Amino acid sequence: MVTVILPAAGQGKRMNQVTNKVLLPLLGRPVLVHTVLAVSACPEVDNIVIAAAPQEVGLVHCLLAGLEGVKPWQVVAGGTERQYSIANALTVIPQTVGIILVHDAARPLIRPDMISRMIAAAREFSAAGLAVPLKDTIKRVDSNGFVVETPPRSTMWIMQTPQAFTADILRAAYRQATQDGFLGTDDASLVERLGVRVKLIEGCYSNVKLTTQEDIVTVEALMRKDCE
Ligand code: CTP
Ligand code: MG
Repeated sequence: MVTVILPAAGQGKRMNQVTNKVLLPLLGRPVLVHTVLAVSACPEVDNIVIAAAPQEVGLVHCLLAGLEGVKPWQVVAGGTERQYSIANALTVIPQTVGIILVHDAARPLIRPDMISRMIAAAREFSAAGLAVPLKDTIKRVDSNGFVVETPPRSTMWIMQTPQAFTADILRAAYRQATQDGFLGTDDASLVERLGVRVKLIEGCYSNVKLTTQEDIVTVEALMRKDCE
């Protein structure tokens, strides 16, 4: 069994809109609905768990109820951090599920074949993340904004989602992070702390995470291009 967790319980602060960015319409459909449909289009996915902000759980139910082409889904209340939202989702996933993927609801352009590749990668490597090579040079800076170091670009990758794991490894990583009070910005970082090697699978630059306002223009343009 394969379950996909969609964390959707953020506030979208950097998007600077009144509503949570995952509820904003893109070509007339909420971002979250696009993402749920894309994930549902992957044949190997059995079901979906959405972590929604407590005050948006009812709304998410309404958005998805009656929608065609959607895999079995359930909604749980998220937490105050992305990691806590995923931890809540993990509590409702039965032990019979062998592979768990985590995919940001804010990445509606994920291609179903990429999800299939990640499921295969989880089966082969136990832990895998979708990633793309860095385009820009990165600087490490001090607190005054002065450059400390220029890490070699060829060794750096940008992490995306989905990230895919065997269920026992992801659960162990979350247990350990909770015990240590560790807060990471992605799921792989929790798994890395266990000493488990995470395999990167090359994804697409089009798998944009809606973060700031210009991302809406980019994502809508890419969606229109796909419809052509
Ligand atoms: N997320 C979540 N629970 C949180 C915070 C984030 O489920 N407490 C989800 C978001 O809804 C999003 C994904 O995690 O789909 C990636 O997080 P991010 O892009 O940081 O979204 P937000 O936290 O909503 O945005 P911001 O950081 O700008 O407030
Ligand atoms: Mg955030």
